[in-house]
Amino acid sequence: MKIVFYSPGKNPQPWQDCLADRMPAAELWAWTPECANRQADYAVVWAPPLELFETQTKLKAVFVLGAGADRITMRPEVSRLLNGTAIVRLNDAGMAVQMAEYVCHALFRHAREFAVYAAQQSQQEWKTRPEIDRAEWPVGVMGLGAMGERVARSVASFEYPTFGWSRTSKTLPGVTTFYGQESLDEFLSGVRVLVCVLPLTLATRGILNARTLGRLKSPGYLINVARGAHLVETDLLALLDGGKLAGATLDVFGEEPLPVTHPFWMHPRIDLTPHISAITLREESIRQIAEKIHALEQGKPIEGVVSMDRGY
Ligand code: NAP
Ligand code: GLV
Repeated sequence: MKIVFYSPGKNPQPWQDCLADRMPAAELWAWTPECANRQADYAVVWAPPLELFETQTKLKAVFVLGAGADRITMRPEVSRLLNGTAIVRLNDAGMAVQMAEYVCHALFRHAREFAVYAAQQSQQEWKTRPEIDRAEWPVGVMGLGAMGERVARSVASFEYPTFGWSRTSKTLPGVTTFYGQESLDEFLSGVRVLVCVLPLTLATRGILNARTLGRLKSPGYLINVARGAHLVETDLLALLDGGKLAGATLDVFGEEPLPVTHPFWMHPRIDLTPHISAITLREESIRQIAEKIHALEQGKPIEGVVSMDRGY
């Protein structure tokens, strides 16, 4: 079996070594335009160039090194070239716990005013902020999949009123759930801290905008750990300037790396990180991919195949 690897910015060797440990009989190589004639059965990729799919014409499946497959699904020219080849994303693979940790940290930092305490420490100031009433901090999680479910359960375990929104109906202990476009406004209007863990699809692009964010309980707070294209960045800036939103924690951006001149960098009420809320873990991801390749080779069904109709 032949497997081609591509992930910009990653040294391919440890990933290939890890794959080789799991699949000793496989022939493995890192994709470059120079080795375009070598045909693989499977591709293991992150942010692949169009050229990879122009030259790899015998693929049985494409494994994405992430939970979101939008770098393939949102590019019609790539989808056309793949022409029905299975696209398989990671299912959790150790990312959901990181995501829950990140979101809880952002929530606590804002609700418990840890940034204020940090500023006070720098002034050697011993001053207590008022206690918080959790009832005034309802948290809403958009997307209740592998990431969102873990996030919502974690937030609920700290006794914040917790709401969740998904495409289809879900039941989660301790979480009041909503589903479908029709219930979006009702969901939003009960929420003060909004967390986005949706996949990027045609239906969710730009979903964090003046209208939706404007429905949050004021002053609202946004935590976006999904994709930059979910957010209309100029709308966020206007809502922060107008006081409707108290702040935002952002891990993902329309353009990554975030350009040095971007206004988010210096904004006093934006905390940002460089797309690290849930990092792809090599061992866990490769173990999952290797198991799925074995299953496919035996004609067995696997989880995580992206539906091109749904877009995720
Ligand atoms: P998932 O398991 O596929 O879950 C997606 C969730 O979103 C599901 O609950 C789904 O509803 C819901 N959803 C999809 N389209 C919707 C719509 N139009 N309206 C309402 N709900 C909708 O995905 P996941 O593994 O949780 O990952 C989610 C996303 O997190 C990824 O696509 C990626 O963009 C992002 N992510 C970011 C990082 C990072 O480091 N920043 C890391 C990992 C993941 P149903 O339950 O009804 O299907
Ligand atoms: C990262 O952004 C992922 O989708 O896993």
